[in-house]
This record gives sequence, C-alpha cells and structure tokens, in this order.
Amino acid sequence: MGKELKNLLINLIHDQELKSCASRYLEGKLLDIGCGTKPYKNLLSNYIKEHIGIDHESTSHDKSNIDLIGTAYQIPVEDYSFDSAICTAVLEHLEEPELALRECNRVLKSNGIAIYSVPFIWHLHEEPRDFYRYSKYGLKYLFEKTGFEILELKALSGFWVTFGQLLVYNLYRLNRSFLRWFRLIDAIGLFIQAFSYCLNKIDKTEKWTWMYMVVVKKK
Ligand SMILES: C[S@@+](CC[C@H](N)C(=O)[O-])C[C@H]1O[C@@H](n2cnc3c(N)ncnc32)[C@H](O)[C@@H]1O
Repeated sequence: MGKELKNLLINLIHDQELKSCASRYLEGKLLDIGCGTKPYKNLLSNYIKEHIGIDHESTSHDKSNIDLIGTAYQIPVEDYSFDSAICTAVLEHLEEPELALRECNRVLKSNGIAIYSVPFIWHLHEEPRDFYRYSKYGLKYLFEKTGFEILELKALSGFWVTFGQLLVYNLYRLNRSFLRWFRLIDAIGLFIQAFSYCLNKIDKTEKWTWMYMVVVKKK
C-alpha cells in the first residue's frame, strides 16, 4: 500500500506523458526492455498489437510477466524484429548504456520508435545495480551516438515535484509502529504530494526535474 501511495504523484505524471507519447508514436509489435512487472501493459494496449517484455534472470521483480529472459545488451531476437520499444526507469541500472542503446537500435525496424524514461534526480535504488543519472545533454549525446534521432525530450517536473517526492521518501523511513498504525505518514505524504503538484503548476523549473521522457527514432 505504502509504495503506491508514496509514488502517486510521479506515477500520475509519468503515466500521463507515456500515454500521450504512446498515442502519437507507438504501434505494432512492442519490446519492453527491463520490463519488471510490465506495469504499462494496460496503458499501452490500445496502441500496439503485441507487448513482449524482456528482463534479466536475477531481476528482483516478479517474473510472471516476463516473456524473454535476456539482458538489455543481448536481446535474443533477430535484427529488425520490433516496430516499437519502451524502456522505463532502466537506463540508470545499465553499466554500459551505449551498448544497450545499440542493441535496442538493432532489434528495431527502420524508423522504429523507442520511448525511454530516465531519472535525473533520484535516490539510490535496486542497489547495487544503480549506476548513473542523466542530464538532457547526456541523453542527447548518447542517443545520437547510437543511431537514433531525438523526436522529443521532455523534463517531467520542476523543483517542487522532485523536492516533494524526495521528502516523502525520506518520511517513509519513519513509517514504523504507531505511526504506521495511524497511517500518519501516508496522510502527510499525500498532503506533500498534493502541495507539490500545485506548486509545480506555478513554477516548473526544469533544471530540477526528477525524470526525462525521451522519444527517439531509429535512423
Ligand atoms: C526500476 S525497474 C523498472 C521496471 C519497469 N521498466 C518499470 O518501469 O516499472 C528496473 C528494471 O531494469 C531491469 N534491469 C536491470 N539491469 C538489466 C539488464 N542488464 N538487462 C535487462 N534488464 C535489466 C531490472 O530487472 C528491473 O526490472
């Protein structure tokens, strides 16, 4: 329960943007790289024909939605197999991002589209497999170097969402005994997220974004 509540605002923002990009760009057979539990299965189902998820053997996530066991570096399919790809919150976990982008490029058809979401300001997670954070300049450099054209590169929030979200995560560290019993942290967390949402409308300083969403096309 706590995990969903504490991620409510960022999930809302991320899902809205992913849906908007999916409706405009995704089609056909889709590869979900580092799919985890395949959380966007329903959200994407109107836009694509097939949703194939790949994740690695020792993932910490539930494996029941994984279709292909492999890594982002070695996807066990032929060249030009997919019309589209998504890779959400995975690039920071890859020690060799350039190799992974080249591999995604290989399995996409010509002019195939990929959507990536990549954090810029976020705490360590899924340790020890947490290697990098990316600025928009780093992302542009990496995607162009690996054979992609950038169609969209959008900061998903300003300072207040990032700040509010980090504060909420920090508060949840106190979520013990009587505090959990009274759902006090959940209530404070929801209040902070609502407040951050409003402030983000007024001041969206993209320099402080927690995450970028990037839409790229295989050249
Ligand atoms: C933060 S989770 C994101 C999961 C899912 N994409 C989402 O948006 O909820 C990171 C995912 O990357 C996967 N991952 C980490 N290293 C990987 C690798 N080398 N190849 C493929 N997947 C990897 C993890 O197993 C995990 O499922």
